[in-house]
Amino acid sequence: MIELKNVSVTFEKEDRMVRAVSDVNLQIQAGEIFGIVGYSGAGKSTLVRTINLLQRPSVGEVIINGIDLTQLSAPDLRKARKKIGMIFQHFNLMNSRTVAENVAFPLKGTKLSSADKETKVYELLDKVGIKDKAQVYPDQLSGGQKQRVAIARALATDPTILLCDEATSALDPKTTQSILNLLRQLNEELQLTIIMITHDMNVVKNLCHRVAVMAQGQVIEENSILKIFTQPQKTLTQEFINMATHFDWDYELVLKKMQEANALKDYKIARFSFVGQEVTEPFIAQLAKDYQVHCNILYGNIEALRGSFVGNLLVTIQAEEANWTRALSFLEKHEVNVEILTAGEDAKWMD
Ligand SMILES: Nc1ncnc2c1ncn2[C@@H]1O[C@H](COP(=O)(O)OP(=O)(O)OP(=O)(O)O)[C@@H](O)[C@H]1O
Ligand SMILES: [Mg+2]
Repeated sequence: MIELKNVSVTFEKEDRMVRAVSDVNLQIQAGEIFGIVGYSGAGKSTLVRTINLLQRPSVGEVIINGIDLTQLSAPDLRKARKKIGMIFQHFNLMNSRTVAENVAFPLKGTKLSSADKETKVYELLDKVGIKDKAQVYPDQLSGGQKQRVAIARALATDPTILLCDEATSALDPKTTQSILNLLRQLNEELQLTIIMITHDMNVVKNLCHRVAVMAQGQVIEENSILKIFTQPQKTLTQEFINMATHFDWDYELVLKKMQEANALKDYKIARFSFVGQEVTEPFIAQLAKDYQVHCNILYGNIEALRGSFVGNLLVTIQAEEANWTRALSFLEKHEVNVEILTAGEDAKWMD
């Protein structure tokens, strides 16, 4: 388990202090894939670099499996760091060395014989799917292949934790997907704990079990993927989710169409979001039948989130106030989240 306790990092920048990380407390379980999202400058890289003490916290503790890394002697810290691999956006490979030499690099100074090192390097390259590139130089590889080499290199010391700083940000969507598949496979096969910094909620959605949202050095929200996507607490979190689901964009478009048709004033417009089995339950039909609440679906999408489904519906609502109130508690009971988006100025609730 990784525990960050009251971690702050302060930098001195032209006679002023920049608080890059501000009093962060996080617990990340062994075997978990944990996402960190936030805008540029939020402190994501700085925070993640404290986990292997590439960045020493100004204040706080970094406890890995019960040991506070900040208290270790230099040799013990070197040993502890071998259990934490890291990959980056721009791969950071050594261009004057072959793929095999890049992957072998962290094995320098270990007790392994040259033959064992070579076996290990080929096993690692096989695992990440580029054994045939062993003798090639990095500049002959695509971005996705380079990241595979970087992953193999990061795994050379048999780490239990892999830190990924924007590891897919320089890749196209298809290559991103293949790297995410590889990371998921490594997580499952090796029980590797993965910490994934990204701007992209799609990456989080496809890969992570839990996610923390950072702003101005702080973790402002943290939850399971399902909870974050269905019950975001902070506006910033909602912004990130909307980017991934295109909900904002679609919503604007639908709204514009309704405005043009002068239909906006007649309805309340709401967003229903729901999870899992609710997707298959015909609750819209039930609203009409049992509660006389008439919903018209304007737009809908269903997202797959690590085995669960999350639905978003944009609906118009017509109902008598009392029926709507009863319907709301029905929806709440079925864990359908309701957000009223426009009240419809002259929304006569039902004629
Ligand atoms: N070595 C440093 N010296 C001074 N200031 C720094 C240093 N590293 C980071 N900062 C500052 O700390 C803040 C957080 O930076 P950080 O790189 O952690 O953000 P980030 O969330 O990773 O951003 P990005 O998404 O752009 O990578 C920024 O204001 C940055 O300018
Ligand atoms: Mg960064």
